[in-house]
Amino acid sequence: MSKFTNVFQGRSFLACKDFTPDEINYLIDFSLHLKDLKERNIPHHYLEGKNIALLFEKTSTRTRSSFVVAAHDLGANAEFMGKNDLQLGKKESIEDTGKVLGSMFDGIEYRGFAQKNVEELAKYSGVPVWNGLTDEWHPTQMIADFMTIKEKFGHIKGLTLTFVGDGRNNMANSLLVTGLMLGVNVRILAPKELHPAQEILDIADKFAKESGAKYIITDDIDEAVKGTNVIYTDVWVSMGENDWEERVKLLKPYQVNMDMFKKSGTPDDQIIFMHCLPAFHNTNTKYGKEIHEKYGLSCMEVTDEVFNSKYAWQFTEAENRMHSIKAIMAATLGNLYIPTVKINK
Ligand code: CP
Repeated sequence: MSKFTNVFQGRSFLACKDFTPDEINYLIDFSLHLKDLKERNIPHHYLEGKNIALLFEKTSTRTRSSFVVAAHDLGANAEFMGKNDLQLGKKESIEDTGKVLGSMFDGIEYRGFAQKNVEELAKYSGVPVWNGLTDEWHPTQMIADFMTIKEKFGHIKGLTLTFVGDGRNNMANSLLVTGLMLGVNVRILAPKELHPAQEILDIADKFAKESGAKYIITDDIDEAVKGTNVIYTDVWVSMGENDWEERVKLLKPYQVNMDMFKKSGTPDDQIIFMHCLPAFHNTNTKYGKEIHEKYGLSCMEVTDEVFNSKYAWQFTEAENRMHSIKAIMAATLGNLYIPTVKINK
């Protein structure tokens, strides 16, 4: 039986795997629509009078700015609470915090550590909770990323994406699973020590079977980049981690450089570079300088040449964080008429 309804209303957005591929595609298209409205100065105050809490236990530039600007564009008020403002987990449990915030705010963004924390917040707050990044998943980034891919290629299904770097981090997990959901062939290029966890591969298998897309987990650069459309990388050491020595040693051979683009054999207009940012592509940062002094590297996960090349789409991707976060908040909290998402039961 199929029916048409607003399947998003009141729901939390904690991981893409909790949604159907149709729903993820809907959010991508809605993000593109909202980008168009913004560019044409057409008001879209779908959250007039709503109050949004922004909880950040880790630092952020893009996610925080996106939620603030998107909330403002939607007519909502956003209140930021950083790790030094919150009692969360230290003086007050997540359950109690969720109950309190849910009684005052209409929606909550949460960036933190374990996925179970954001799940608990959603369970006890009773309002939509949006995952702004946990150690396991980065779902709002996924809507922006596949929106960016659709903007460039005009479609998503059938493309090939290669993620290069730590194959166990939240970006590798998210790109593998969301890509397969959307019919994208995904390749994870990482040293064997950093290949994805079996529980992530189990989820990947399920979606690959449903969409018909293929995935490869490999440490072979040639195999991973041959014919690919997207070369995607992320920082070698994620937020909350500190093992630079080990990561530099393991990931140095996998730095994204121009040679990888040549090796792909993909025509120039059919391949792009993506990065969720921030990126270590030169020595203009504190960490970049330290790594240069200690290991002699002038860039880490991507060369400055690729970062500034004709392939680079990372700044469009960053802008799209705002449009896609706006779509996620509006769809789940805006009482919108959304008749076109099919649910098969
Ligand atoms: N990509 C991303 O999540 O950026 P921020 O850490 O700046 O939010």
